[in-house]
Amino acid sequence: MYDVRVIVLAREVFVCKCSTAVPLEDPNASPEAKRVRWLKGTEADLARLQPEHHNPEHVEELRARLARGEHWVLGLDGDRVVSYTWLHTRRAIDYPYLPGCTFETADDVGYGYDAWTPPELRGGGLRRVGFLVELNALNAMGMKWEASFFVKHQLEGATRSLGKVGIQIVPLWRARLESRHHLAFENLAPGDTSTRPAKQPA
Ligand SMILES: CC(C)(COP(=O)(O)OP(=O)(O)OC[C@H]1O[C@@H](n2cnc3c(N)ncnc32)[C@H](O)[C@@H]1OP(=O)(O)O)[C@@H](O)C(=O)NCCC(=O)NCCS
Repeated sequence: MYDVRVIVLAREVFVCKCSTAVPLEDPNASPEAKRVRWLKGTEADLARLQPEHHNPEHVEELRARLARGEHWVLGLDGDRVVSYTWLHTRRAIDYPYLPGCTFETADDVGYGYDAWTPPELRGGGLRRVGFLVELNALNAMGMKWEASFFVKHQLEGATRSLGKVGIQIVPLWRARLESRHHLAFENLAPGDTSTRPAKQPA
């Protein structure tokens, strides 16, 4: 029996950035969050993923990310996967559930995506701690900023939650599906050069 991920097709997505100059740890983390061991996941760690949440196809997709050189920020409690997220430093980033929602990033911007905590552990501050870990990892790679996509209904909660540990989310662009074939981009931070919508093929 596998977990079926329901992809809600977002109509509105925000491209945001946050500085990678942040503390290493959350001093107010819960005991559960403090216990997490964060490491750079490898192919061997794929076997730790709970099959009820990761079917074979999903695991293969994650394996392909590792093969592309992406950085897996993996949180373990003992042998158990309790949170993770993914990073890469390629110049094009896209939000796959909104076709055409592709952005180009500046050289000092890394990309964080696909954060996950098992349903039974959500709300325990694991992601907040993981976000500090990933920002510090990008900082060590020479990236001043992390770009990420937030769907509209998560932006407010994420801003509030991450703000508690000094992570400031700066909205840069709003991408909105205006009609079936038209994606509109609104620049929320004119003058900021860290991201811009990618040129669409003619
Ligand atoms: C989003 C998710 C990773 C948060 O993990 P978590 O370990 O429960 O997060 P924490 O306990 O550290 O923080 C919970 C807070 O994060 C906020 N939040 C919501 N979306 C968030 C996001 N994308 N990134 C960071 N924080 C988010 C919640 O509003 C909550 O805020 P509150 O405590 O002020 O109410 C988890 O709910 C999850 O795996 N969801 C399904 C996958 C998903 O939506 N991933 C995000 C898209 S990349």
